[in-house]
Amino acid sequence: MRQPLIMGNWKLNGTKASVEALINGLKAPAAAAANVEVAVCPSVIFLGQVEQLTAGSAIKFGSQDADLHTAGAFTGENSPVMLKEFGCKYALVGHSERRTLHAETDAVVAAKYVAIQAAGLIPVLCIGETLEQFEANETNAVVEAQLKAVIDVAGIESFANAVVAYEPVWAIGTGKTATPEIAQTVHAHIRAYLAGFNAAVAAKVQVLYGGSMNAANAAELLAQTDIDGGLIGGASLKVEDFSTIIAAAA
Ligand code: G3H
Repeated sequence: MRQPLIMGNWKLNGTKASVEALINGLKAPAAAAANVEVAVCPSVIFLGQVEQLTAGSAIKFGSQDADLHTAGAFTGENSPVMLKEFGCKYALVGHSERRTLHAETDAVVAAKYVAIQAAGLIPVLCIGETLEQFEANETNAVVEAQLKAVIDVAGIESFANAVVAYEPVWAIGTGKTATPEIAQTVHAHIRAYLAGFNAAVAAKVQVLYGGSMNAANAAELLAQTDIDGGLIGGASLKVEDFSTIIAAAA
């Protein structure tokens, strides 16, 4: 009942030429996987190009971040309202690289989540523990706190119009994927935690896995009951690999 969602996070990568090649290469695989929602998140500078290239295709797109303000004296930021105007459907929020490299706190992430929804976009709320927290058995407590920070501000009902992405920080870009068993256990915990607030919302929310998902391991991860798709970094930059992941979700 939850539609699989395969989302590429291109991070700070791409050229006009590579963006064109990637989008054009993904059109047929996205169309072939009719039951899968396929989306990409380019750098904002490519959004206009991606809007044009994806027109009439099955490919959706989103931003990698959004400011919590809609307009004003905030040099360098991107308003969720502007992102909506450029055709974004989604906006990532709270990616671990934003939390770590840009010092985004749970409070900032929650404010951005609210602003993204207010602009008519679907927030993809990224959560996950560091290696140190994983080794200290703190995974559940970490993801609960990250979810609670948003629930407190936006309410549990807001998750009816949001996506959660579980990304163990130790698996991002490291080639160390969480095993399907570990990932499923955490995904089930995330859903159970949300169900404690609202069971119907928890049953419907898509929970994506992110962290070194690739063409070789996607099928096994996506086969897990509570893994509803993937947020893919490195492997989303290659047409062949990303297409294999899309097909694995179909
Ligand atoms: O947003 C995507 C994640 O950070 C995963 O990146 O697939 O390169 O490990 P990765």
